Amino acid sequence: MKGTREAVALPRATQLLNHGPVTIITSAHDGRSNVMAASWAMPLDFNPPKVVVVVDSRTLTRQLIDASGVFGLQLPSRGFAAQTLAVGSNAGAGLDKFAAFDLETFPAQNIDVPMLAGCITWMECKVIPDDSQRHDLIIGEVVAAYADSRVYSNNRWHFGDDPDLRTCHYVAGGTFFATGDAFEVAPVASGAMG
Ligand SMILES: Cc1cc2nc3c(=O)[nH]c(=O)nc-3n(C[C@H](O)[C@H](O)[C@H](O)COP(=O)(O)O)c2cc1C
Repeated sequence: MKGTREAVALPRATQLLNHGPVTIITSAHDGRSNVMAASWAMPLDFNPPKVVVVVDSRTLTRQLIDASGVFGLQLPSRGFAAQTLAVGSNAGAGLDKFAAFDLETFPAQNIDVPMLAGCITWMECKVIPDDSQRHDLIIGEVVAAYADSRVYSNNRWHFGDDPDLRTCHYVAGGTFFATGDAFEVAPVASGAMG
């Protein structure tokens, strides 16, 4: 069964990244589009929502983002880990990774960048240009966010029994962790630690 993409309220959008999952960045400019894996991605602000991604200046992705000022930031599921590794292990210069790895896309709502159908959350981002780019940091304002309702709705994650429908965390060399089960705690009482 396929999920439906449901809007995530923008002030809650950065919650999609709080647990530190690996991401996939899509980019496009002047008729050329591309896709790469990025594990260095994090929230920066709530409202308006901002994110930071580290994109090596030698990548095609960086060239396209610098030229267009926009990018797509999506979360792959465990079932999409092999494709994530593929788009992170092959440079897009000289290779159409969408065709090579049979990646289905759909049009974004607010930016001119293809979004990846195989992912489970999506953010459309506009670059906030600033000096941080010399450290390969790209700051993006999230202008649209949506999530697969099978795993995220009403501002919360609810991973179920399907092991393929979990977000992933990248280690190195093709090794990932899948996101585990949620648990809730109350804070320890003040003074309880002696
Ligand atoms: C799981 C994974 C995570 C990665 N994370 C990042 C990252 O956060 N930043 C980065 O610059 N490169 C990262 N890389 C490497 C890029 O994805 C890789 O250089 C890619 O080939 C660049 O593609 P492009 O030149 O087509 O844009 C990662 C690779 C993998 C496999």
